[in-house]
Amino acid sequence: MRPSGLFWNRSDVLGTAPARPGSIWPTEASLDTRNVRPFPAPQARQETATPSLGLTRRMRRNRKAEWSRRLVRETRLSTDDLIWPLFLMDASEARTPVAWMPGVDRLNIDEAVRQSTHAASLGIPAIAPFPFVDKALRDPTGSEALNARNLMCRAVRAIKAEVPQIGIICDAALDPYTSHGHDGVMEGERILNDASVAILVQQALALADAGADVIAPSDMMDGRVAAIRSALDASGHEDVQIMAYAAKYASAFYGPFRDAIGTNATLVGDKRTYQMDPANSDEAIAEVALDLDEGADMVMIKPGLPYLDVVARVKDHFRVPTFAYQVSGEYAMIVAAARNGWLDGDRAMMESLTAFKRAGADGVLTYFAPQVAQKLKAEG
Ligand code: PBG
Repeated sequence: MRPSGLFWNRSDVLGTAPARPGSIWPTEASLDTRNVRPFPAPQARQETATPSLGLTRRMRRNRKAEWSRRLVRETRLSTDDLIWPLFLMDASEARTPVAWMPGVDRLNIDEAVRQSTHAASLGIPAIAPFPFVDKALRDPTGSEALNARNLMCRAVRAIKAEVPQIGIICDAALDPYTSHGHDGVMEGERILNDASVAILVQQALALADAGADVIAPSDMMDGRVAAIRSALDASGHEDVQIMAYAAKYASAFYGPFRDAIGTNATLVGDKRTYQMDPANSDEAIAEVALDLDEGADMVMIKPGLPYLDVVARVKDHFRVPTFAYQVSGEYAMIVAAARNGWLDGDRAMMESLTAFKRAGADGVLTYFAPQVAQKLKAEG
């Protein structure tokens, strides 16, 4: 197996040994001992053999070879499970690197169209674009979010025109557009709920008008799903889906994302009055129940790997399309360790995504999406 480009300076000694072909060795169970002399000779046996444990059930039998492991495998990661978040910018150059997310670039609209075409050709069902908004366009109420000609709306139109078969999932949240970096509007230190929802509804309509297939409210204001649903329905967008960031935690793992969209330096305070406390899980059930009642078609848990218990609970409880977001910090941890040669990046990537499936996720938003799709394609 060749190291993938993303993990370019991974040490070659790590995990590069090819998997052993599935040779089947004779086992104790397969030896017919009825007509043969005991072997080894009784003397030798006494000296070297370990007494039998007399086990009826040996869990290792099903793991003895790759064909058998494949046969008993319970979950499988497929390209159909992938949603690719990507970063947009208004620039003449095609790409600029995101420093805190090695291997991820911000893309201008032309490049985003090209990459969407590439993603579609790999079979990735959907993308989730996020904008890096020019700082001069940010203000306290995030008014640029409502501009029908803003970066997101132009990109959505361009991608829809060129690659109509790929789904486009757009965040409803004001943080890329506000001068203070919060997802809603403020009065003094407070983030106002109802006033923020009124603006988010307008943002969702602008995105839907541009051609967004799915609105993904990621703001965590109360009542926003119902408000967005009724506004979409009232304006002829009854087919636009809502993927609610239903249980979104106030997490340290969003750090690199805030570098990518340029809100890290500007964020005033933290988001703990609207995003959830990482210590809570019953509350996630209540959040999901509300969003479903309000009309969400799909729900999402975020971050991902540290919250797999929440993913499993939500899926078990509601049996609805449930997604998880492997967020920027999770991506950065794997890539940083891999680039130091501390773990096999390719395997950690696949293992982490398989874990989402095992926990019950129907799909995952992951910055690894193109690498994973490429790998799954190569494996056939
Ligand atoms: C904004 C938003 C955030 C992410 C997705 N939408 C950041 C935040 O809430 O501060 C994080 C994604 C990531 O870290 O990869 N509402």
